[in-house]
Amino acid sequence: MAKIEIQLSVDLSDSDIGDMCDAAETAILDGGGFGWLKPPPRALLERYWRGVLLVPERNLVVGRLDGRIAGLAQLVLPPRNNEAQSRIATITSNFVAPWARGMGMARGITATCERTARQHKMQFINLDVRETQEAAIQLYESLGYERWGTNPNYAIVKGRVVAGHYYTKPLGRGARKAAAHQESSPDTKAEKKS
Ligand SMILES: CC(C)(COP(=O)(O)OP(=O)(O)OC[C@H]1O[C@@H](n2cnc3c(N)ncnc32)[C@H](O)[C@@H]1OP(=O)(O)O)[C@@H](O)C(=O)NCCC(=O)NCCS
Repeated sequence: MAKIEIQLSVDLSDSDIGDMCDAAETAILDGGGFGWLKPPPRALLERYWRGVLLVPERNLVVGRLDGRIAGLAQLVLPPRNNEAQSRIATITSNFVAPWARGMGMARGITATCERTARQHKMQFINLDVRETQEAAIQLYESLGYERWGTNPNYAIVKGRVVAGHYYTKPLGRGARKAAAHQESSPDTKAEKKS
């Protein structure tokens, strides 16, 4: 049976970076990629991931399927100069390679982002998705994210203007009702075992 692990990544090997590039390329080609519409040159993608790891506010959460990284998300903490939003984090670039979907990886990755946000004393998580990203919309709504607005001019994909939905989730008591759903996430199960 496939083994899924979720990790807040600090040290990644060169082979991990290679897996991250592979996962990103397949997700972008599948049409559900974090901003990119076509895969950038491999070297650029590699530099992108290495850059993310260098930014202190960016917490990279990875999902492994049988040891290989197949899904990623970034929990972005507010910069130090932004006192007004010092308790508000953002989840961005959450994706799973097509070959690893439907196994609970994104649910686990999102739960780990939320737990990390709580550890940093965040009170809210904000995020946004294209209206066409139906799986992501289902995922976030099932986890208690509340849609508060829609931008009709959110993105342009293949010449077509696409709307985007904005979500927010309180991490205090308001988040409790989603906890039952998160109980089944792979990383939560792993925690219980350990
Ligand atoms: C959205 C995405 C990350 C889900 O990854 P995943 O690992 O397959 O998701 P999970 O297996 O953890 O599923 C969790 C929940 O997501 C929703 N979901 C996942 N795939 C779905 C699908 N094809 N259709 C509808 N809902 C879906 C369901 O609510 C599911 O819960 P359930 O299994 O209890 O029904 C993945 O489809 C993806 O990478 N999409 C393209 C990128 C994207 O849209 N990213 C988000 C914005 S940046």
